Amino acid sequence: MLRLALIGFGNVGQGLVNLLISRAGLLKQQYGFDASVIAVATLRRGSLYHADGLDLDALLKASQLGAFRHYPHTAGLTRDWSPQDIITRSNADVVIELTYTDVTTGQPATDHVRAAFESGKHVVTANKGPVALHFHELNALAARKGLFFGYEATVMGGTPNMRLARLGLAGCVISGFSGIVNSTTNYILTEMERGHDYEIVLAQAQALGFAEADPTGDVEGYDALAKLVIVVNTIMGVPLRLDAVERQGITHLTAADVTDALRDGYRWKLVARAQRHGDGVTASVCPERLPLSDPLASVMGVTNAITYETDIIGPTTIVGAGAGGIPTGFAVLGDLLELHRGTR
Ligand code: HSE
Repeated sequence: MLRLALIGFGNVGQGLVNLLISRAGLLKQQYGFDASVIAVATLRRGSLYHADGLDLDALLKASQLGAFRHYPHTAGLTRDWSPQDIITRSNADVVIELTYTDVTTGQPATDHVRAAFESGKHVVTANKGPVALHFHELNALAARKGLFFGYEATVMGGTPNMRLARLGLAGCVISGFSGIVNSTTNYILTEMERGHDYEIVLAQAQALGFAEADPTGDVEGYDALAKLVIVVNTIMGVPLRLDAVERQGITHLTAADVTDALRDGYRWKLVARAQRHGDGVTASVCPERLPLSDPLASVMGVTNAITYETDIIGPTTIVGAGAGGIPTGFAVLGDLLELHRGTR
């Protein structure tokens, strides 16, 4: 039984809990996987901790009602622990860090991840901040402590792109990649092509829950930049920093740019691209005018895709859901299953 502590309980945390409920039988039967959520901490709804596990249906219900005071009281339940208390004092095996992403400071998530490792707990996160900013420090800390650090959910939501590269393409040398890794901008460009107004479709992306809390990070390319840095460090093994990458967003693209490109047989896409050169890489996040024959040109809406360039089987592309609570919760679950397989 894997005991989970969730720090943050937004779309992704709720998506994960929904999957733990709906897939419990299948996960147990096929993989011998059994998990309980022993703690949840939020900024506004309060926190809950019970060493024997929380009732997941009651947890979702209390969250939907807006406050964990609606969660029924049982002996042994604690309601006043801070995230730090839960991370350092609870009996969790895994801390699942799902707080607000801040790719400028990486906080408070980075402190949560460090504290979890220092307390001997594994970490799984969907938070790009700590991974993009402190990749080597956090991976080294996890390795020193013999702990698992899972962050598949930071890139392309539910689509297992880094798992494909790490496990499925093992043995290949990956010389580079190109990808559409931000759903908000891809949705905006898709809708602009259909004649819809930029401001209206950006508001839709926010309402649908896949834009960041501050969508500047999406439309100016910072979200895609963080993802690119995570993939380069993880898959290419090159210590690339955020400030070493050329970045441009999509805000200067007009409806006329989009329709003119299409008329000429092209599509504008925000492309994250990296290419190995000796020991280093050149990398960029920029709008590119792709010919319609490029596999990335046909990736529309919230869908994401990444093409890995390999020396044995040539280019390999994975396409799938790039954002959303259930898909991203699924990526967190995938990391938990990987941890489970490794520790069995
Ligand atoms: N804001 C992000 C996107 C969410 O639009 O892709 C998933 O990381």
